[in-house]
Amino acid sequence: MSRIAVIAGDGIGVDVIREGLKVLRAADEAFKLGLEIKEFDYGAERYLKDGVALPPGQMEDFRKNWDAVYLGAMGDPRIPDMRHAKDILLAMRFELDLYINLRPVRALDDRLVPLKGKTAKDIDMTMFRENTEGLYAGMGGIFKKGTPDEIATQEDINTFKGVHRICKAAFDFAQKHGKKKVTMADKHNVLRYGHDLWERVFFDLAKSYPGITAEHMFADALGMQLIKAPENFQVIVTNNMFGDILTDVGAILQGGLGVAGSGNIHPGRVSLFEPIHGSAPKYAGKDTANPVAAIATAQMMLEFLAEDGPRSAQLGADKQGRYKKAAARIEEVVVEAIRKGKTTKDLGGTLGCAATGDWMAAAMKG
Ligand SMILES: NC(=O)c1ccc[n+]([C@@H]2O[C@H](COP(=O)([O-])OP(=O)(O)OC[C@H]3O[C@@H](n4cnc5c(N)ncnc54)[C@H](O)[C@@H]3O)[C@@H](O)[C@H]2O)c1
Repeated sequence: MSRIAVIAGDGIGVDVIREGLKVLRAADEAFKLGLEIKEFDYGAERYLKDGVALPPGQMEDFRKNWDAVYLGAMGDPRIPDMRHAKDILLAMRFELDLYINLRPVRALDDRLVPLKGKTAKDIDMTMFRENTEGLYAGMGGIFKKGTPDEIATQEDINTFKGVHRICKAAFDFAQKHGKKKVTMADKHNVLRYGHDLWERVFFDLAKSYPGITAEHMFADALGMQLIKAPENFQVIVTNNMFGDILTDVGAILQGGLGVAGSGNIHPGRVSLFEPIHGSAPKYAGKDTANPVAAIATAQMMLEFLAEDGPRSAQLGADKQGRYKKAAARIEEVVVEAIRKGKTTKDLGGTLGCAATGDWMAAAMKG
């Protein structure tokens, strides 16, 4: 059995997770996965009602008792400082030490590819963004705030452990999936200390993966090459900040915010899965949000639960196989839905959010 905690969150997070759950429950039924799914009401509404973002002990409960957290999105205009999102989403990434931000960048239909002369087969890569360090570690300070002499610092934290484990995750993924090249992006030409560490760690590690070409690119050059020749990339690994930007480039290459899923992962521990888009408050409850990203995220979660979750080994080979088949079936269903126009308008379809989820859930069972 795998235990999935669900936090739909805010705005269209609620709309798309409802549809993701329809497909997940259909997968559970069709492939006899034995999922235990529990929905939690954390998000803006709850925070505005009783001031609770995550109650005391909840993080520990996630850590000890759950295999995955399936989250919609956080963000509500009534909470401009995003306090609740920081206490839920960012807290989970840091406190659960979810060091891999995993971003598959795969176009599922030629129509979704925005580049002239490129087709879906040209967009097939996986990005590994370091998720716990770098400029997002929150170290720094402000001196003489609000005066003409103000000084603000933001420190770029790069530890051997942090760089090593994310680079290793990228190489291990490449090895497991028969990929021939891993590209690491940094700026060691100007960031002479922190990114010198990336350079050394990456190429040292590469020696243990003789069948895989280790390639280095400066992050700005990679940004250009992703647009010019995306077919040249298979696995990309980079730090937190460059990863933030490059994975968004990746999302556009695969068809936009409505289709891109993500995992925040620590192999062997409870991990967090979320569509990359935000809560798009304008569209909340209007049945127009595209649920594909949330559904693709459910697929990623099943792949994780099959092999990398806290209790994957206890599932046994048969059930692990069924999780993987269910994940593969979700992808087939999404591809079929896009091809047949059984999606929301942004993907060229004619359905609303709920009908898209209904169609895909029915296709899972069929
Ligand atoms: N991980 C997260 O929870 C997360 C990520 C990004 C933004 N946010 C928050 O979400 C709120 C809104 O942010 P934003 O407007 O910059 O980004 P957003 O991703 O919510 O929306 C940007 C635009 O993208 C389109 N879009 C996004 N998701 C879509 C979907 N599933 N279907 C159809 N169209 C979709 C819409 O046109 C939308 O206006 C803010 O509070 C922001 O902080 C949260």
